Amino acid sequence: MKIKPIKTITQEYLDNLNNPETNKFLSTHGKPQTKTTVKKWIKDNKPYGVYVDNKLIGTIHISVIPVIGILVFKNYQRKGYGLEALKRVGQKKMLTGIDESNIASINLFEKAGFKPRKMWQL
Ligand SMILES: CC(C)(COP(=O)(O)OP(=O)(O)OC[C@H]1O[C@@H](n2cnc3c(N)ncnc32)[C@H](O)[C@@H]1OP(=O)(O)O)[C@@H](O)C(=O)NCCC(=O)NCCS
Repeated sequence: MKIKPIKTITQEYLDNLNNPETNKFLSTHGKPQTKTTVKKWIKDNKPYGVYVDNKLIGTIHISVIPVIGILVFKNYQRKGYGLEALKRVGQKKMLTGIDESNIASINLFEKAGFKPRKMWQL
């Protein structure tokens, strides 16, 4: 796995952002995403791409320091990529906001060592 700036907005990235299953807990939920909106989001939020075999399989970003957010595309979930990306990019004293019904994310952040406080905190 490589964590590096996003080179190209792939169709799979757009599909995942527009899929209610994967975007349910993202800030862009309910807002249709196009190359133009994603380009602006990338410019504003400076996410990293998560690359496996040189293929974009997800994104990880620190939205407002020190708040971290993560998306792993549907076809690549439950393979350990989210945990590995979080461990690589996460630093001490990071925060994340998680919807209490987002069990996958709660488990992921717990596994990475985050503790539930007022906000989930590493
Ligand atoms: C949350 C998310 C990033 C997890 O990424 P992932 O690469 O699938 O996670 P991993 O494979 O590294 O899993 C690590 C641990 O997280 C937990 N987990 C991941 N997906 C889970 C699921 N669907 N249900 C329950 N626990 C889950 C498990 O504890 C897992 O360890 P295990 O496989 O040994 O049981 C991914 O589901 C996703 O992108 N969801 C949509 C976007 C989102 O909700 N982002 C978070 C906003 S705060």
